[in-house]
Amino acid sequence: MQEQLRIDMRQITKRFEGVKALNSVNLQVRPGEIHALMGENGAGKSTLMRVLSGATHMDSGHIFLDGTEIHFANPKQGIEKGISVIYQEFALVYDLTVAENIYIDKLSDKHGIIDWKGLKQKAKEQLDQLGFLNIDVNAAVRDLSVAYQQIVEICKAVTRNCSVLVLDEPTAVLASYEVEQLFRLLDNFKRRGISIIYISHRIDEILRICDRVTVLKDGANVDTLDVSAVDRNRLVNMMIGRELQNFFPPREPKIGGVKMRVKNISRGNVVKNVSFEVRKGEVLGIGGLVGSGRTELLRAIYGADKRDSGEVYIDGIKTGIHSPKIAVSNGIGLLPEDRKTLGVLLDLPILHNITLASLKKFCSLLHKINFKKELSFSREMIDKLKIKLGSLENNVSSLSGGNQQKVALSKLLACECGILFMDEPTRGVDVGAKVEIYKIINALVDQGLAMVVVSSEMTEIIGMCDRALIMKGGEIVGELGKDELTEENMIHYSMGVN
Ligand SMILES: Nc1ncnc2c1ncn2[C@@H]1O[C@H](COP(=O)(O)OP(=O)(O)OP(=O)(O)O)[C@@H](O)[C@H]1O
Ligand SMILES: [Mg+2]
Repeated sequence: MQEQLRIDMRQITKRFEGVKALNSVNLQVRPGEIHALMGENGAGKSTLMRVLSGATHMDSGHIFLDGTEIHFANPKQGIEKGISVIYQEFALVYDLTVAENIYIDKLSDKHGIIDWKGLKQKAKEQLDQLGFLNIDVNAAVRDLSVAYQQIVEICKAVTRNCSVLVLDEPTAVLASYEVEQLFRLLDNFKRRGISIIYISHRIDEILRICDRVTVLKDGANVDTLDVSAVDRNRLVNMMIGRELQNFFPPREPKIGGVKMRVKNISRGNVVKNVSFEVRKGEVLGIGGLVGSGRTELLRAIYGADKRDSGEVYIDGIKTGIHSPKIAVSNGIGLLPEDRKTLGVLLDLPILHNITLASLKKFCSLLHKINFKKELSFSREMIDKLKIKLGSLENNVSSLSGGNQQKVALSKLLACECGILFMDEPTRGVDVGAKVEIYKIINALVDQGLAMVVVSSEMTEIIGMCDRALIMKGGEIVGELGKDELTEENMIHYSMGVN
């Protein structure tokens, strides 16, 4: 007899206006397995999981949980049946405490009296059990690092006794040692018989922790295989339908004079007296753990946050940058880490998002927008970065996570800048598009642009950068030249250990 499946999704079809997001997709997940769900941006992974949870209604298909057919009208019903989904965006209430978030269902229970002390105690026990003794249950969730916010989400899911846990790109926001903590947690869940569906664009992670993998392409199944039977190349091939050579396209660095020099940049406790320079034609990496002050440093230079001290020189001339507007007029562009709130305008059409920040470039002498020019640039970006969309007129909110990131990047590339700050440029982007982004970065620095890249993926810093600074606790604690750029050296500085 065949083993009972935990999840059996059969012939799931879902169409959005203009896009067939899922076309008769099947997914079978066993009890106690970690099942990877992979595919290019827009392949349908998140949509499939939203259908499973009850957040999106399918047009047709069947879903079985432990052999029984289920129909969820909303995610609440899914949760009651033991299906917890942790989305690319969290569902926490930032002003409530950790304990309140974990037991949020109990808070809305109108009939019972809330036992606050007991609730805190239980939340603490849960977190202790998961191995996170240092998360304070009384802390407001907004004061936690993103990594810990994610742990709170997971803790919330397990206290609800879930039998299926879905993680949609959980490690995109984590530093490497936090990823290890997460993996230990998942291993523990697996041994308890919980089924985990794991979405990630990081192939190494899939190979390491997953038992089986299902690959989707353009809303349809490619295949489901044992992870032990595949390797990196095979997975890439299944996802993008071709081989991928030169994951980091080669570049002969042509490094010129100093383009930007910053001196003694400080902001509260998060950036402490940072000085560095970046040259024309150079890709300077900034490594370090999540929370080490990398994003804050870029924002302080760019004028997005007020700095307490510090000077910015461009081409040897001191600038008075104290707002993003002035930064832009000085030729600095910033791709922000948080694309949802800063990188794109979700409720505006894709077309305008791409060209909004650089409308001047698309205007005629009489200040009239040249639509043909606007359209042709946007088409070029869509083609280059393979942005998957229904129509340019659709709002950015209709795009998958990775495709939103590509729009944010296109918007930045439309501006003519001499210096680009890129904060996690390839977050959530699939392997094929990553390579395209690296090629674009290479082409820009070849033309003499100075580039500063923050990335939590060490391989990306090593593969892309000519030099890297490592931050820890708001300070630069190390500088590594091209020859010294190794994972060991980066970990040594970012964690202060060997
Ligand atoms: N609400 C929506 N309205 C219109 N189209 C949508 C909507 N949600 C998803 N889509 C489309 O469905 C397709 C699948 O999107 P989905 O978010 O499932 O992709 P994904 O595999 O999760 O990609 P990523 O790796 O970028 O997160 C995409 O083409 C997307 O544009
Ligand atoms: Mg997605």
